[in-house]
Amino acid sequence: MCGILGYTGNRQASEILLNGLAKLEYRGYDSAGLAVMNDGKIMIEKNKGRLQTLREKINNGKNILGTCGIGHTRWATHGEPSDTNAHPLWSDDLSVVAVHNGIVENYKDLKLKLTEHGYKFYSQTDTEAAVKLIDYFYKQNKNPLNAITEAIKNIEGSYCFVLLFKDFPDEVWGVRKDNPLIAGQGEGESFLASDVSAILQDTRKVYYLDNMEIVKLNKGDVRFYDSEGHAVYKKLSTVTWDSQAAEKGGFEHFMMKEIHEQAKAVKDTLHSVIKNNKIDLTDVNLNSDEIKNISQIYIIACGSAYHAGVVAQYVIEDLAKIPVRVELASEFRYRNMPLEKNSLAIIISQSGETADTLAAMRLAKNNNIKTLAIVNVVGSTIAREADKVFYTLAGPEIAVATTKAYSAQLIACYILAVEFAKVLNRIDDEKYLYLIDELNKLPEKIDEVLDEKERIKELAGSFVDSEGAFYLGRNIDYAAAMEGSLKMKEISYIHSEACAAGEMKHGPISLIERGMLIVGIMTQKNLYAKTASNMIEAKSRGGFLLSVITRGSEILREESNFIFYVPEIDDHFSASLAVIPLQLLGYYVAVARKLDVDKPRNLAKSVTVE
Ligand code: AGP
Ligand code: GLU
Repeated sequence: MCGILGYTGNRQASEILLNGLAKLEYRGYDSAGLAVMNDGKIMIEKNKGRLQTLREKINNGKNILGTCGIGHTRWATHGEPSDTNAHPLWSDDLSVVAVHNGIVENYKDLKLKLTEHGYKFYSQTDTEAAVKLIDYFYKQNKNPLNAITEAIKNIEGSYCFVLLFKDFPDEVWGVRKDNPLIAGQGEGESFLASDVSAILQDTRKVYYLDNMEIVKLNKGDVRFYDSEGHAVYKKLSTVTWDSQAAEKGGFEHFMMKEIHEQAKAVKDTLHSVIKNNKIDLTDVNLNSDEIKNISQIYIIACGSAYHAGVVAQYVIEDLAKIPVRVELASEFRYRNMPLEKNSLAIIISQSGETADTLAAMRLAKNNNIKTLAIVNVVGSTIAREADKVFYTLAGPEIAVATTKAYSAQLIACYILAVEFAKVLNRIDDEKYLYLIDELNKLPEKIDEVLDEKERIKELAGSFVDSEGAFYLGRNIDYAAAMEGSLKMKEISYIHSEACAAGEMKHGPISLIERGMLIVGIMTQKNLYAKTASNMIEAKSRGGFLLSVITRGSEILREESNFIFYVPEIDDHFSASLAVIPLQLLGYYVAVARKLDVDKPRNLAKSVTVE
């Protein structure tokens, strides 16, 4: 995700770009840059770090004159945050200058082909390959529209490109696929932006581009084309949102917006390592020999990342038959645990800056344990210090309570489990392809679960005054229960506890009060009848049973007070679906309790202290 802005009109572009990008910085803040055309020249200024650094560098835009330009705030996916990797990126003779939101999945192939045509590359980004591909076609007939239509036939992935062509002053071009782009219509001026929040101070008249549509701005004139270059007509809309709502995509909170971004986070993370139905861990830099040499896995993390690790433990052990220990980083770092020589430490962290997790990773490294970090922030400390990195592509997560990053962490763990199992011949080709096929179904099934969110919303009101809740499950369902319980306690402040369903009778069941919420997760076909029995034990003591069950199962149909069915998926991956209603439950109860959902009391998005 990133923030993109384009402007052409009669006013100075740089100040408009800086002000608009400030509204988009929540979409990415690794670096910032802009390019402005003036008198046939394109001037570019960009830097690692926040937009304020750029603003000061160019004296609030006063140093860069011109009435046509583009700007970008980056959320890095390929190439660490740096001045060089900051956008805009350009072709060598500056004929084409562009900014990009998204992922060019086939950037390596494109770079290879372009190198054969004499192109060189100065950045580590995937974007540069696309910019030079557009330049390659542009050089053939100096026609921006043709260059774009030809280029997008060869680009795989998700993108929104906004471009300047040196030979076409006053024009700004754009094209999108799977990432948002809107065009704004002003008086004698026009805009392109990632979302409306960036231009609301200038206009509320907007066009929403559809996938594979191309747009050309020329002062107040806005024209659209399809992917073949044919002109298309688009309806002008009027934005009624205020700027704040726009940043949240019309959702009331970032958390709900991010819950709805999970399908894309899962899809982007899957696509980053599944090529032609095969897992490709080249970018993770983990080869088969290294996998064959693993005798023990330690998964080390905190909070929700730890919960993802607990899911991973069950999945890796069941598929790859490698013993896995999951450790809380804050405990691991002081445990003096005897560590297996040929082991792999998988370090999970959304922020890549969590102090306990970083310290635990350093301890593992000091004991000559290979470390593989699963991280969402490119270039973060944990990412930079780990021996290997598996980046999740969830995009910036603003809400303190993680949702989409947790879901993307699960994907990374599943991918490792399946690849380990394949390399170790624990599964045959048929099972391998079946599991990959099941993984590819997850984005759609996540959205299917979200289609029923209103049912959870209606139920949530009944728990506004709850004193406590239990979340029960066995095996992977128990791991999902941990995350569901944390969602409830960290944003609604209701005490809740995840408990292995079979453990209730060993003490916790004494806590059950009449009407107490008992959430039971039952997706593991070989175990959910046992969890059902534990749920009935809880009901007989007055519990209110909220059952999360795989669709098609008949269990607890009579005994549950409320059932939420999740779609069928391979048991190994069911936590990705079971967690969604649990995220929604925590969210809606917190909203009903009128709490600050995005910034819960006492919590920080990244805990960089012990
Ligand atoms: C999750 O909702 C919490 N915000 C918290 O438990 C978080 O998962 C934990 O602090 C770990 O953060 P990290 O993934 O950035 O390392
Ligand atoms: N993939 C591009 C990069 O890493 C664009 C990332 C973004 O959307 O900001 O530079």
